[in-house]
This record gives sequence, structure tokens and C-alpha cells, in this order.
Amino acid sequence: MKNIKYAYIAIFMLFSTIILALYSGNNKTILEDLKSSAKKVIKNNQKLFNTNKDGSTYDKRFSAERFSQMAYNQFKILSTGESWKIRDLKKSNDQVQLSRALSLYMAAARMIVAQNQFAINTDEDGSRNPKRFYPAVFGDLTAMEFKKKTGIEIRQTKSEGHHGSNSKYSEPDKWEKKVLNNLKKTKNKRNVGFGETTKTGGKDIFRYVMPLHVKKVCLACHINSGFKLNETRGAISIKMAK
Ligand code: HEC
Repeated sequence: MKNIKYAYIAIFMLFSTIILALYSGNNKTILEDLKSSAKKVIKNNQKLFNTNKDGSTYDKRFSAERFSQMAYNQFKILSTGESWKIRDLKKSNDQVQLSRALSLYMAAARMIVAQNQFAINTDEDGSRNPKRFYPAVFGDLTAMEFKKKTGIEIRQTKSEGHHGSNSKYSEPDKWEKKVLNNLKKTKNKRNVGFGETTKTGGKDIFRYVMPLHVKKVCLACHINSGFKLNETRGAISIKMAK
């Protein structure tokens, strides 16, 4: 009788472990790692966003939760017409598909940061209070968090270099330059990049690069950088072990 009781307990524990494993880290997608990295960056900066010039605070409602929801909706808009399902990424070993999803999410989240500049930079009394939290800064901080989690590198790459040495963007390297030029020539479809396995320092590294497009929200800051609406400027560039 006693043994049966222990057998029940053992079976119960086995099932709990399996269910826990299914719902926890083991089954998480890398896209979810990027989503949570981005959310963490927004969460870490709440105090920056919500503090008025005089030091008092006021809730801007640009919370990590709201941001995450908006970024994901924007991601879905950018990836409409895809034949792949986001859920398929869970088990996918397809590095093109995975890099594409990561680039689209980064582009989407950057856009949400751009769209919310007014809220971020305006005090409770309506006066301007620049926080210098622009898409470049957000993307850089998020990429650092994400690299810690996954080892995958996501860089923000310039198309035509300027903007000083302190940039959150890196100059394109030889591979990025070549691919971005080819994409330009072939008038590639919007929000589609190119990926291939390259030999880097004797190792096989998968690389992917997706051009960024200039939207109206970008021009609020970039009107003097010579950016034009809808043109391609800069890129998201990914490196992961093969
Ligand atoms: C709130 C202001 C702001 C907004 C909005 C903004 N940017 Fe920027 N951007 C900057 C600043 C400042 C820099 C330079 C700092 C740096 O490189 O770290 C920069 C740099 C860049 C660069 C690299 C420099 C270059 O000339 O190639 C690119 C590309 C770029 N932004 C693209 C965009 C795109 C695309 C958007 C729209 C989604 C956007 N930015 C929205 C402020 C902004």
C-alpha cells in the first residue's frame, strides 16, 4: 500500500518536471529572448523617462509592458505576408528565418522608440526635457542584453558613414557593404535581408543583414542628416555561430 503511494508521488513528480520543462527555458524561442531583452532595457529606463526637470516624477505611461505590446504589434505588421509562422521558430534551425525575425523585431522596436519620443521628452507641465533615448541608444543597449543571453550579435550598421566616433552604429565591414550594395541593385523587397555562412577567423559564422527604411518618425530627428522618406538608411546586422 505504502509503495503504491510512493509510485503515485514519483509519477506526479515526473509529469510536473516534463510540464515545467515544456513551459520554461527549454522551449523558449530566441525571438522571445530578444523581446525580453528589449523589455528589460525599457524597464531599466523608467526613471529616466518619468523624471521632470525639477526632479519630481510623473508616469509617462511608456511602460515596459505597453512598449512590448506595441513593438510586437509593429513586428507583426512588418512581417505580414510571411509564409512562416512565428510559432515555427520554436523548433527552427533555419538561421535565415531566425535572423529575419530578429531583424524585424529590432526594426519594429526601434520604430516604437522613435514614435514615443514626444512622450519620453516632455515634462508633466508640457515643457521639453530631452532624454537622449533615441532608437540608436535603445538598439545598442538591447543588443548588449541579448548577446549576454544568447551569444548572438546584433549590430546597427550605417549605410553611409558619418556621425562621429562615439556612434551607436558601426561602419559597415566588407561583407556588409557588398551585401547592402547587392540588395540595393536588385531593388529587394521591403524588410527583406540576405544571409549566408561565412568563414571568419577560420570559423563558420552565419551572417545576415537587413536594410532599414526611413519612415516619417525618423525624420523628426534626421531631417538635417539628409535622410529621405522611404529610402534605405542603415541596417541591422546579425552574427551567430553556425
Ligand atoms: C530622437 C531622435 C532620433 C530618431 C527619432 C531617430 N534617430 Fe536615427 N539617430 C539619432 C542620432 C542622435 C544618431 C547618431 C547617434 C549614433 O549614431 O549613435 C542617429 C543615427 C542613425 C543612423 C546612423 C547614422 C547614419 O547616418 O547612417 C541611422 C542609419 C539612423 N539613425 C536611422 C534611423 C531610422 C531608420 C530611424 C526611424 C526608425 C531613426 N534613425 C530615428 C537620432 C534619432
